[in-house]
Amino acid sequence: MIGFLCKIAPLLLMGKTVKNTDIAASYDKVSKRYEEYFLDTMHSHNDRVLNLLTKEIRKNQEKEDNHRLQILDLACGTGYNSRYLQGKGVDGDYTLVDLSKGMLQEARANGMEFSKVTYVNRDMLSFLKSSPNASFDIIICMWAIKYQPPKKIIVECERVLKDGGLMVSIVNTADTLPQMRRLYPKLLINNWRKIRKIMMDLPNPKNKEEFGRWFSKSGFNIKELRSGRQTFHFKNADKLVEFLTSTGALAGYDHMLDLRDSEIIMQMVSYFKDNNILETEHRYVYGMFKKRS
Ligand SMILES: C[S@@+](CC[C@H](N)C(=O)[O-])C[C@H]1O[C@@H](n2cnc3c(N)ncnc32)[C@H](O)[C@@H]1O
Repeated sequence: MIGFLCKIAPLLLMGKTVKNTDIAASYDKVSKRYEEYFLDTMHSHNDRVLNLLTKEIRKNQEKEDNHRLQILDLACGTGYNSRYLQGKGVDGDYTLVDLSKGMLQEARANGMEFSKVTYVNRDMLSFLKSSPNASFDIIICMWAIKYQPPKKIIVECERVLKDGGLMVSIVNTADTLPQMRRLYPKLLINNWRKIRKIMMDLPNPKNKEEFGRWFSKSGFNIKELRSGRQTFHFKNADKLVEFLTSTGALAGYDHMLDLRDSEIIMQMVSYFKDNNILETEHRYVYGMFKKRS
């Protein structure tokens, strides 16, 4: 423990903390197999959110003039959400923003037909800050809002949305991946010599009530607010570790400690074997929010 503290204190003093660019680099590494590892199962949760959105867009289009929608996909990753919306017939001008070149490259390669698409390789908060007021009808931010202070993202989203504009978001809660949460501090203590930077804990919401408050305090009405869980089961501890280190879920934490280091992988496998752990669980909240007119 003393070794750990002696290692951490100077890193903190020198400001050696994990930055956005490190998180983007983590996603560069998993970009080629992100859809296979994460979205293969998790896409059904994205789809649920996007179906709510599609229904609401159709309802609004029946009432209002059919102007061309301006759709912003923040931290778009491999472009799954925009492709899904387009597949559901939501036509418009799509802007896909992501800080990871690798993820954005996958989005480009996956392509979208018909709609006009602009790809932007940039941090989402700085993109929002540079966007004019009332420039988008729809904002999507899936599995990513915690990579910048979420309340700042929400305030900016409210500003760049047109009156009555819609935002959907899904995000892990603070208690997600409990098995890994218990193991990670042990890895840090046991491998303190290998710590390279400090990863500050991400500001995930505790529950759907907290998530809803972030939006309602920033000029949104809550249209939908729900929570969910997805458990993943594995044949053995090696597969569990492979999954945890391949989905991007530990982005940033892998810069504090190299989770691909063979010794650290062995320790993770042993811990899961010794404790008979062959599953992990993503816990999340999601919602659809409408900017107050
Ligand atoms: C879990 S993935 C989600 C991708 C996609 N939204 C989805 O639902 O599949 C998180 C994404 O956030 C991106 N990201 C992380 N920090 C970011 C930032 N500050 N600005 C823009 N994108 C960021 C990552 O590069 C990654 O593509």
